[in-house]
Amino acid sequence: MKKPTPYTVSARLYDLISFEWPVYGAGRSTAISLLDLAPGSHVLDMGCGTGLNFPLLQRQIGPRGSITGVDASAQMLAQARQRADSAGWSNVTLIEADATAVNPAALTPHQRFDAAIATYALSLMPTWQTALLTMISATRPGGQIAVVDMRTPTGAAAVWTPLARLACRLGRSDIEAHPWSDMPQRLARVRSASVRGGHIQIRVGSVGRDGDSVPERDAALDPPRQR
Ligand SMILES: C[S@@+](CC[C@H](N)C(=O)[O-])C[C@H]1O[C@@H](n2cnc3c(N)ncnc32)[C@H](O)[C@@H]1O
Repeated sequence: MKKPTPYTVSARLYDLISFEWPVYGAGRSTAISLLDLAPGSHVLDMGCGTGLNFPLLQRQIGPRGSITGVDASAQMLAQARQRADSAGWSNVTLIEADATAVNPAALTPHQRFDAAIATYALSLMPTWQTALLTMISATRPGGQIAVVDMRTPTGAAAVWTPLARLACRLGRSDIEAHPWSDMPQRLARVRSASVRGGHIQIRVGSVGRDGDSVPERDAALDPPRQR
């Protein structure tokens, strides 16, 4: 049996208690604006949680596009399914899987994604590098990868550091993980932004057209379960 985590026991409350407004929503909206996806795009949302990225993504991709959300928590995925169903989005596929152990080919059986995004998720994964490689492998050459995650605030905002650390501790994320740090060596044209006094870091890069920046992955292949 899986060990309980905040994402299994508090999934129903997540949207209320996650400081979406006024803190973390700013990171996802900045990243998705930078992605600027074409209508019809197919997007992987790694560690999608309750699907807080979905409304912003849907606005760009429209009904001809699709979202594939992957999360390790069945309870978070149940909330994401509810969000999709009540909005009438029939283009959302949800997969219960460990992002650090899933086979990228199993996420995208027909064609690779146009973009992959992970918001506030990689820093919960001790081997986030593997999840990032999976996102890159599952995305087509020329497609985009967006990572949004947390670090300690800087400058005048450093006074908020204890609060930022507490929020990360409660959410079980490692504020020192900096899971965007590998992106410049793995991706082309990495753009950076930061909001909320540097606490929220945003990176968006492109997958190399020749694919030579993406090392082969030796995945310990988990069979994904669709929700
Ligand atoms: C802080 S929440 C972020 C959810 C969503 N991306 C958002 O922006 O609101 C982190 C999510 O990562 C998921 N997660 C943590 N470790 C994971 C793993 N190894 N594989 C897949 N999902 C994971 C958790 O279940 C949780 O839903």
